[in-house]
Order: sequence, then structure tokens, then C-alpha cells
Amino acid sequence: MKYWKISTLLLLTPFFLQCGGEAKVSSDKLDQRIDSVMMLMNLEEKIGQMNLFTSDWDVTGPTLRENYKEDIVAGKVGAIFNAHTAAYNRELQRIAVEESRLKIPLLFGYDVIHGYKTIFPIPLGEAASWDLEAIERSASVAAAEASAAGLHWTFAPMVDISREPRWGRVMEGAGEDPYLGSMVARARVRGFQGETFENADKVLACVKHFAAYGAPEAGREYNTVDMSDRMFRDVYLPPYKAAVEEGAYTVMTSFNELDGVPASGNSYLLHDILREEWGFKGIVVTDYTSINEMVLHGIVADEKEAGELALQAGVDMDMQGAVYYKYLKQSVEEGKISVTQIDQAVRNILRVKFILGLFDDPYRYFDTEREKQVLFSQANQEAALDMARKSIVLLRNENQTLPLSKELRSLAVIGPLADSQNDLIGAWSGAGNGNDCVSLLKGLQDKAGTAMQIRHARGCDFEGTDRSGFAAALSLARQSDAIVVAIGEKGRMSGEAMSRSDITLPGVQEELVKALVATGKPVVVVLMNGRPLAIPWIAENTPAVLETWFLGTKAGNAIADVLFGDYNPSGKLTMTFPRNVGQIPIYYNHKNTGRPFEPNTTWTSHYMDVPNSPQFPFGWGLSYTTFDYSAIQADQPAFGKSGSVTLRVTVSNTGLRDGEEVVQLYVRDLVGSVTRPVRELKGFKKINLKAGSQEEVTFTLTAADLAFHTRSMAFEAETGYFDVFIGGNSEADQSIRIQLTE
Ligand code: GLC
Repeated sequence: MKYWKISTLLLLTPFFLQCGGEAKVSSDKLDQRIDSVMMLMNLEEKIGQMNLFTSDWDVTGPTLRENYKEDIVAGKVGAIFNAHTAAYNRELQRIAVEESRLKIPLLFGYDVIHGYKTIFPIPLGEAASWDLEAIERSASVAAAEASAAGLHWTFAPMVDISREPRWGRVMEGAGEDPYLGSMVARARVRGFQGETFENADKVLACVKHFAAYGAPEAGREYNTVDMSDRMFRDVYLPPYKAAVEEGAYTVMTSFNELDGVPASGNSYLLHDILREEWGFKGIVVTDYTSINEMVLHGIVADEKEAGELALQAGVDMDMQGAVYYKYLKQSVEEGKISVTQIDQAVRNILRVKFILGLFDDPYRYFDTEREKQVLFSQANQEAALDMARKSIVLLRNENQTLPLSKELRSLAVIGPLADSQNDLIGAWSGAGNGNDCVSLLKGLQDKAGTAMQIRHARGCDFEGTDRSGFAAALSLARQSDAIVVAIGEKGRMSGEAMSRSDITLPGVQEELVKALVATGKPVVVVLMNGRPLAIPWIAENTPAVLETWFLGTKAGNAIADVLFGDYNPSGKLTMTFPRNVGQIPIYYNHKNTGRPFEPNTTWTSHYMDVPNSPQFPFGWGLSYTTFDYSAIQADQPAFGKSGSVTLRVTVSNTGLRDGEEVVQLYVRDLVGSVTRPVRELKGFKKINLKAGSQEEVTFTLTAADLAFHTRSMAFEAETGYFDVFIGGNSEADQSIRIQLTE
């Protein structure tokens, strides 16, 4: 059969699909174009589209394949990841669209998690801003840079809820709460994908890791996940759903099993929930070799069986495992899977390639001039600085130690992270370069100028017991007016495969802080970490503690702005900080139990050696000013399932500085057909108040906001009484009781 070049055949109807895919362009036209390609493909070429291989340009796991370029020519590759820059990817695309038989363009993916070249705060830090616009802008900048560098697809947002600070990947998510996690997931999908791919400045989002990867037993990476379906659907599932509803075009399966079935072979997840309940039409891609790993999970006898289970469950694309590559044809010949099942997967892949416009112009993401203009632009760096400032959480500030006076004559900057650069871009920092990062020391020097003497001593390393640096650090501290000590974790002590059984400060860092505090000088602790840490002594004995995560390229400038009061910190924790690892899991939306804690009462739920309360609760964060909340008012004491209730509170800035406050609304369902959490976040608003001013903040609640999976597993609200709390963190005690009626 004479066949036309694919581009010729398809040029007849070039169009760009608005993001949101077929919704805005007739899906029949799209289906026709897909059909016109499918009809030309043989079985090997169809299977070829289902293979995602890493290039050797960057590596994020064990590499299995060397000769991927030959595979491209043979039409055996649908997508490449870990390859980037416009020039490099243009060449790989040229091979695909000029040297293969059908010239089907490749997709290029990469882990652009919190920036491509301009690195933003780690996602756990960004989430602490509670600023959805800023988070969306961060993802938008990442998309602009990634798309300029030849990338179509980012493997983000990671939306895994986690109550496990031992787990290293909490740095990559938005924390412990399903409501906040869902709002952040939506913002990041909007930022990555935007409204259209027409300008080649947006990338496909990839919701990961589906699902419940954030709940590994004991916080140990890749460990077993097991929970009730109710817990799964009420706590862990919502952010994935939110991201799919926001239009994400791809979903990545997780390494873990859920209820005994690994996600990459789990049809309850991939078919029942994702395709049937949510109507997802995009690509399901596995995580790195996770099909192969089903043999080790012990759910299949060999890799060929793993491939059959994965395809039957609904996996379209095999990341790096080469299982589809090696066995799918044989499985078809043996009748274990059908060509129809393969066709469905290939259609899902081709649909996304059409939506990206790659069949109209396979080279549209490889503009080297645009790459030069967009990467690391001044505007992008300013966006990163803004996001970094907003991500900082003021945990403690006794006697108004902060902000530091600009009249200080001398400042000692101490600690293993004081002059670090590479640590501050954190894990999953894409093509970011630590050398571009502004260290804390540099940020302070830039701000202080010559008026203030800024002197540095390392004091100690991250790990080990070497205290030989203490003397010089203490000597410098005694000669200075104030001390800033930067401590925490190495940038790579969190992230994938970085679980810690002990979440205290590594090494002798805490001893160094104690010695500095003993000098009697004002000491400000600047924490840099990828997870909640157990820091009881520091939290209760140092004058001021600033949580700065890993803030990315502009870290030093952002921290200096906050330390000297040029930005009033506004961040709020999105993960509970335990007092010690023994309290884990500890989270704000816990159940009451039948014997809730009562002081001085033996037979109630408590420990003998530590309070039940956390060191710092979810939603916690101070400001350089103070806020006061009026009593809550409801426009009616009761509302029906078809109605709503409006709640009002007046927030006053009672301090001397302008400041931002995250006004948070929590609900407690007093009686349910199953036990209910003592609080659940159901709304928040970040407001900016001038000193002395006040603002009325309103929230509207409907029955839908109160819905949960009931005793029968129906998702609905139940009538009854609810306590509503509004305040500046999850322990807010202002409340009002409302009633939901039929
Ligand atoms: C890794 C991660 C996943 C990432 C992928 C590709 O193992 O689990 O988040 O997107 O491999 O690098």
C-alpha cells in the first residue's frame, strides 16, 4: 500500500487543540486524525508508542537501555525522558520524524518539579505559602523554561498526601491535608498546562504517584501501603482527582502496592477510578520500571505476565522497563492480550501528541533562540524570589528578636548551611545549577552592604561528631551583635530513596546551637530542610526560628529580606512538626477516640513521656505583626442540603507592621455514621492587612463541603451539628455551631 508521509497525510487539517482537549474541539475530528495514523501502524509500531526510555543525558534511576537511538529509527520508542535542551531534543526528534518508517513524533519528558533552570522552593515550601496564584505562577515559569528547552511533558505535580516526615519525598508534595493538597494540585496543573499549547510555552502535567505513595509503612521508601478504602478516598485520593479534574493529560502510577495490588497492575485504581469514575482520557505511564517490579512484589511470576497485568489494568506507557518492548507481541500471539487493548493504549498516546500539535509541527518546541531568552530570565528570577519569600514560615519569635535591626554593627553567620549553594536548590532540581543559587551568607552580605560587618564560621558539618569548629564559631559569636545560625539537612537528605528513621538534626548541629545560645547573644535559627524535623530543644529555647526549607535559586535574598524585615513572613506549615519520631503519625485531622486525652487522667489516650500535641501544628506560622479574630457569625444557624451557610469573621492587624494572614476555616462533624476527624480544613483565604486595619472575611459552606464516605461508602453529607473554627492555624479555638438539615 502506498503510504504518504505522516505529516503529509495529516497536514490537511492542522489545528491546535485547546487544553482540556476534546472538550473544545470535536473529538470526532481528533479521532479521525488518530484513526488515520493507527491504520498505517503495524503491531510492532503500535507497541513502540508504549515505550518510554531514558536518554543518557541525565539519569533518575537504573538505566537499562543503551541503543535507544536505533530503537527510535525502528519505531520502537514513543517517548524519551531525561533528554533536554532544544538542540539535543531536536536531533532526537529528527531521527524519529525523518528516519523511522511512519515518522511519528516523540514526546520528551523530564522531572521539572520546582523549576527547570530557575529553581523555586521545594514544593513543600511553596505549599507553605498558601498562595495559589504564586504557586500557579511558579509552575507557569517552570513550563515556560522547560518548553523552551525542548520538553513537552513534566513529571509533576507530585500530589501524594503524606503524614510521614520520615519519608524523603514529603519535600515534593503539599503536605498532609487533602483540601489544601487538592487546591495546590489544581494550581500546579493550571500553571504547567495553561489554557492552550498553541504557543509551545506550556507542558503536559503528570499527576503522580497514583496512588497513596505517601503512606509507606514506617515512612520507609517504597514500602507497603495498606489502608481502608474509606481512608484512601477521604484523605489520600482527593488531590489526584482534583488534578485530573483540572485537565491533567497524564497520570503516573506509583511503586507501591495498595491493598495488596501494586499500582501498575491495579485495575481498581487505573480502570474503575481513573477511567470509569473520573472519565480520564489521557496517558497512564508507570513509574520507573514499576512493571518489572511486580515480579518482586510477587503478584506475577515473570515480566511477561507483569506486562499483561499492567496492560489489562490500564497502563498505556512503560517507563524504562522495556517489558512492553520485549513481551507484548508474544502476549498478543498467545492470546493473553488483544490488539484492541493495545489500540486503546496507543490511541491515548497519539491523542496527547495531537493535542500538543506535534503532528502539525514536530519541531515546535525546539527554538534555540527562545531557549536563550527564556531560561533564567530576570523576570523568572524575580518570580522565584517572590515565591521563596512567601514560603518562609516564622515558627518562633520571642521578645521580637526578629526582624534584625539594620543598625547592627556586626552579624555572625554560622552553620553548615550558611554558605551552601547546592543544598539550597534541594532534590529534584531539574537543570538547576547550584552555582546560580544565592547562599544565605551572600544574601546577607548583599543586603547589609558595607555598613554592617558580616562574618562567617561554619562551626560544624552536617554529620559526624567533629566539634573542632565550635571554638572559632563561638569566638566570632561573642564578638558580634547578633547570630544567625543556618542548620538542617543536606539538600539530598530528602527526596527519593532518602527516608530517615530519625528526624532530629543530624550530627552535632543542635549542640552548636546550644553553645551559641549560651553566649547570651540574640540567636536566630534558620532551618533548611526537606521534611518536618524534631527540634524540641531549639523550638523551646532559642529566641527565633525561621523555617526556610530549600528555597531555590534566590534563597539567600529571600531569607535576608525576612531576617531584616523587608518582607514580613506569611508562611504556614502544611505538615505537622512532631516533638519526636515516636509521635508519628501525628496530624491535625485525627480522630477523637473513645478515650480522648484528659490531663491528669490515667485511662485516656496519651504517652507517658511526651504530650499528644505536636511541636508545631498544621497551619502554624507567625508574623512580625499580630492578628486578632472577632467572634464568628453565621447568616443562619441551620441550612438544608440544597442551601448554604455564610460565615463571617473580622480580622484585625493589631500590630505595627503591615502583614499577610492565612485565615483558615476548619469544620468538625460532631456525629457521623462513622467516626469523624476532630477538624478538617474546608477553606482558607490569604489576606494582606495594613497595620491597624481590619477586614471582614467570609466563607460559604454547602453540604458538598461536608461530604465524606459514610458507613455505606456513599459520598455524601449527613445531617446534624457541625462546629466551625476560624483562625490562623489548625488549633484555632474560635468556633460556632451550625446545623445541616435535610
Ligand atoms: C523516579 C520517580 C518519579 C520520576 C521518575 C522519572 O523513580 O519515582 O517521580 O518522575 O522516576 O525520573
